[in-house]
Amino acid sequence: MKDVLSVSSYDPSSRIQEGNRFLLGNGHLGYRGTIEEEGAESMTGYNLVGVYDRFQDKWRESINLPNPLSLKTFVDGKEEDATSVAPSAHKASLHQSQEIFARLSSFPHYLISSQRFLSFCQDNLLACKISVCVTREGDFSFQYGLDLDIYDINGPHFKEKKVTRYEDFLLFEGVTNEGKHLYEAVAYESSLPKESQGESRFESKARMEKGEVFELTVYSLVFEGEEDFAEEILAVKKAGFERLKEDHLNIFSPLYEHAKVRLHGDEEGEAEGNYSIYMLLILGDANRPRSIAARGVSGQTYKGAVFWDSEIFLLPFFCLQRPEVARNLVKYRILTLEGAKAKAKEYGYEGAFFAWESQEDGRDACSKWNVTDWRTGKPIRTYFNEKQIHISADVAYAYENYEKLTGDQSLLSEGGDELLAEIAKFFLSYATYRDGQYHLDDVIGPDEYHERVNDNAFTNYMAAHALRFVIKKLSPLGKYKDLVDRISSFLEAFYLPQPNEDGVIEQFEGYFQKEDATVDEVRSRLQDPKQYWGGKDGPATPTKVIKQADVVAMLALLEGEFPLSVKKANYDYYFPKTEHGSSLSSSMYSLLASRIGEKEYAYSMYRKSSSVDLYGPQKLFAGGIYIGGSHPASEGGAYLSLLYGWGGFSIEEEGFRLSPALPEEVRGMELSILFRKKRYRIRIEKEDNNGGYSTEIKEEKA
Ligand code: BGC
Repeated sequence: MKDVLSVSSYDPSSRIQEGNRFLLGNGHLGYRGTIEEEGAESMTGYNLVGVYDRFQDKWRESINLPNPLSLKTFVDGKEEDATSVAPSAHKASLHQSQEIFARLSSFPHYLISSQRFLSFCQDNLLACKISVCVTREGDFSFQYGLDLDIYDINGPHFKEKKVTRYEDFLLFEGVTNEGKHLYEAVAYESSLPKESQGESRFESKARMEKGEVFELTVYSLVFEGEEDFAEEILAVKKAGFERLKEDHLNIFSPLYEHAKVRLHGDEEGEAEGNYSIYMLLILGDANRPRSIAARGVSGQTYKGAVFWDSEIFLLPFFCLQRPEVARNLVKYRILTLEGAKAKAKEYGYEGAFFAWESQEDGRDACSKWNVTDWRTGKPIRTYFNEKQIHISADVAYAYENYEKLTGDQSLLSEGGDELLAEIAKFFLSYATYRDGQYHLDDVIGPDEYHERVNDNAFTNYMAAHALRFVIKKLSPLGKYKDLVDRISSFLEAFYLPQPNEDGVIEQFEGYFQKEDATVDEVRSRLQDPKQYWGGKDGPATPTKVIKQADVVAMLALLEGEFPLSVKKANYDYYFPKTEHGSSLSSSMYSLLASRIGEKEYAYSMYRKSSSVDLYGPQKLFAGGIYIGGSHPASEGGAYLSLLYGWGGFSIEEEGFRLSPALPEEVRGMELSILFRKKRYRIRIEKEDNNGGYSTEIKEEKA
């Protein structure tokens, strides 16, 4: 069936990957795709977005809550479920058009099925319905409740855990190490009488005959403060699972139906594209001014923090599908401006230097030691947070993109003007004046392997673009006149690396002098698979081998600013030097490949980007640190590859236009977008094999 991802066997060795692949989310909560009998060892995770905590001196990260769906089944005194007996049949399915996870497994004495969803109607609600049908008589004991053994990367995060039993529900109250009180009210409706078992669990037991059924429905509500828990939980119980599901589907299904893409002639590419779209939709929070973590709602990797991924790779999708979420992404940066100003000040600059790994108030969660030495296990000093200054330009780029795609200019009077002014001040104060020009020295571009370089092309061009945008927005507001004048004269003397005689733009000052090694050569120099490629001593550092799209990303994002010949020259030059060590890389290559007529790469790089969470990467641990989880930026990038790349979508003053470049494998593409409050259905069909297309843009009811 389409729009359903499924597996037909239970593989104990792929529990962590399946947790990611079968993920549920509603922007506020995430629930990993594990099954009821699994626990912390399978990385079962009930992730709360936007609340962080630090345990001792470990990395501050987002919170996982106690798992309310824990169920263990015993028959004749022996445990009988997937953690103890291999099921004779097993199927797990993710219904993408519904945001519903379902499983069906058969064991010697019973068949179990369940379905669950995180509600899009009430975003603090997780609901699950479990049904056990007895296939051979026996003494059954079902033990269920809250699992207080929580999987954490850098936890534990609850210094106090208390469970109170009320008549209709259990109330978990957790106090984090930072003193935040979180609550989870959980109701269990069971078809058999239940007895208390320990502090947070129940047991229902009976001698059951073949054909008898045990049913359990679980409702979990999460709160960040005290509320009338009883009233809230009674309301969901009263509504019941089916009604709650219907309310949820009424919101989620149309979102998915509108967002999904059709690729005529390419079923696999279409399925991966729609999986990516699903993985994006589950991340958007329309209700709170929050952004999206680099690993979405899949857990605590990268500390649950927000990176440039949101601004560059995710924002366009949300502008075109859920503008209210996109607005929150931009608003988040406005609300964290004080944190960005404090960071700039800390390093001796003016204005706003945004956090490289941003948490709730804009504080930078990025450690100075992000990777470990493979020999000694000791941390290696990295400069990601101090030197990746392009983040501030990316924020301005996203602001501009939001306005262009949604037509909404209202953020300017809600702090947007200050945001832009502070970004400009930052670059002005960061720049060094030498040889009659301003330079951005000692930075890191998207290619993190080469640290502390001067005049990274990506950074300089993105900063120049941001500064021009700031002038455009702030000029009409009289109070910024002095700043606007300063920016204008700065831009006149701002150094922007120009293409050489071959049309190639040097990634940073001195890059052309680096050793001309291939990616494979550098790989062969690794002394250990876990060795870090970049930084001070990495094997890529003295070479031209780069981690991810850098100049290419710049050409893809600022495409109107460069001629075709420069795009081509740089694509050819940088492609063989790119390791694609980050999942952010391939979509940028796909985008640029579409623009320069490299359709084969436009296709293969899209497939790579859209399938990351389906088939790879399999790199789950780096030196003992879990780095897995979902890859939203890759999925957002896949969407960009389709619309902007294959569709040739570009924005003009009055609207948008399409210049299609469909790859060989695809006969036609259909999708719909919300552009400046209007919904359009786009249909592109190949007319012949000589590059002719018929394109239809139809306005639909928004
Ligand atoms: C990439 C960054 C990215 C981060 C989070 C890193 O590996 O190099 O560009 O922002 O992952 O996705």
